[in-house]
Amino acid sequence: MTAPRILVIPGSLRTGSHNVRLAAAAAHEFAQAGVGVTRISLADFPLPLYDGDLQAKSGVPKQAVNLKRMMGTHHGVLIVTPEYNASVPPLLKNAIDWVTRVQEPQEARGQVFRERPFAIAAASEGRLGGTRALAALRLILSACQATVIASQLALSFADQAYDEMDRLKNPADTEALKALVRQLIDVSQRMI
Ligand SMILES: Cc1cc2nc3c(=O)[nH]c(=O)nc-3n(C[C@H](O)[C@H](O)[C@H](O)COP(=O)(O)O)c2cc1C
Repeated sequence: MTAPRILVIPGSLRTGSHNVRLAAAAAHEFAQAGVGVTRISLADFPLPLYDGDLQAKSGVPKQAVNLKRMMGTHHGVLIVTPEYNASVPPLLKNAIDWVTRVQEPQEARGQVFRERPFAIAAASEGRLGGTRALAALRLILSACQATVIASQLALSFADQAYDEMDRLKNPADTEALKALVRQLIDVSQRMI
């Protein structure tokens, strides 16, 4: 059986980001589970704000094609999103919007979303842990016809969530992360 490769995408560029930290903890869990894992930064895929005129004039930016191809070389994708005003941050929404516009030869547009499962997680200093951003992200990915696994993690009080070894302190958070990792691996394997 092929071991799936998992891509982890944090939706923040901020120094000290809670979501980058959670993405790192998730990547560690995937590695512990014995699967290949790549954690990227959207800083490496700089994209202009989506504008239909820009696309008509210059096409889809190379970085959007690169991001789509990066997704395409993995069997499952975990997106770790901050919550901005009860939704996903523009950085992440813009990246998804551009990727949905990529048209490769021999491929239907948006195929990259349909062919692999997605998992979602969020971290926030608030009590809700980014639950509303998760709902928004699930809706966006579902609109892209992606399979979004049921397990998810909303990490509350993220500024106090880790010990000095960068491990999650709350056993319930650890369990939720492990369940998400296990389910994404299982579904990725089934969809290969
Ligand atoms: C424009 C803006 C809106 C925000 N709205 C919310 C919100 O609705 N819910 C919430 O829990 N946190 C909200 N926050 C706080 C972010 O969750 C917090 O800044 C978080 O640390 C961002 O994620 P990061 O640490 O990964 O960069 C907001 C922050 C910004 C800048």
